[in-house]
Amino acid sequence: MTQAAMKHFLNTQDWSRDDLDALLARAAMFKRLRLGDELKGRSIALVFFNPSMRTRTSFELGAFHLGGHAIVLQPGKDAWPIEFELGTVMDGDTEEHIAEVAKVLGRYVDLIGVRAFPKFVDWSRDREDLVLRSFAKYSPVPVINMETITHPCQELAHIQALQQHFGTTDLRGKKYVLTWTYHPKPLNTAVANSALTIATRMGMDVTLLCPTPAYILDERYMGWAAQNVAESGGSLAVSHDIESAYAGADVVYAKSWGALHYFGNWAPEKPIRDHYQHFIVDEAKMALTNDGVFSHCLPLRRNVKATDAVMDSPRCLAIDEAENRLHVQKAIMAALIQQ
Ligand code: CP
Repeated sequence: MTQAAMKHFLNTQDWSRDDLDALLARAAMFKRLRLGDELKGRSIALVFFNPSMRTRTSFELGAFHLGGHAIVLQPGKDAWPIEFELGTVMDGDTEEHIAEVAKVLGRYVDLIGVRAFPKFVDWSRDREDLVLRSFAKYSPVPVINMETITHPCQELAHIQALQQHFGTTDLRGKKYVLTWTYHPKPLNTAVANSALTIATRMGMDVTLLCPTPAYILDERYMGWAAQNVAESGGSLAVSHDIESAYAGADVVYAKSWGALHYFGNWAPEKPIRDHYQHFIVDEAKMALTNDGVFSHCLPLRRNVKATDAVMDSPRCLAIDEAENRLHVQKAIMAALIQQ
């Protein structure tokens, strides 16, 4: 296969709806039949620039379940720090360039997973997703996004949980609320970008609920959502009003993120964020929904983002969604290996 023809899993938006549906169907099969041989004698390098519990565990176990082997690398900790800029005189902290790292890994392994969060200094640079794009550029084997500025594996796990809950693969017509929640730190927009992308792709009626216009997501993801709505027949609205946004919702998905308007200049954002702690998901807000379900990508700070009662409710799908990471990632690895 030529480099140009090789398929990566960088964003769901790069994949056709038919291909995403096939991944979800395969994930449902893996949920019923845990073991397979799709990765027999094959391997994946999992490159983590940031911490993880779910992603690392589910990818390592997923490779094992399919007869493969996973190797975890943490550049700057147990592997050499990597340079990503072109033309740089590497007389600083980095020891080797991505051009060599990706090519060498590609001689050893069959897949590469990458987790690289933003640096939180300059969004115009972070939005270029340089680390992930560089791996995809130089790697001779498929690359999987394990969360950078989007989190496409989480998207599929989330959709699988909703499909299971509602007992149908057709989520059109569901009212879906993506709500910002408070967190003491300005967090990555990746999961919010992803939730907006996949919920609109599935044709749901999506409301992005956030405190002020400063918390609206990057135009790339708002644009993808608008495009998806045009193609899928759902709808997209932005709201700053909690009651009307929750009213009649079938799905409430919560995430905290830092306002892009203040990216890298977080001091003036903090008092605004602190002022909106009442965006916490609680029983009173969930009572406004259409007997709706709640979910979150985890990790979650209880009684900051959502109350104990919401998390412990049978209508909370967060644990199912976390379990589904295992199934969807096995589907992704199998599909990429077999292309
Ligand atoms: N949701 C998620 O990606 O969890 P981890 O950060 O623990 O991998």
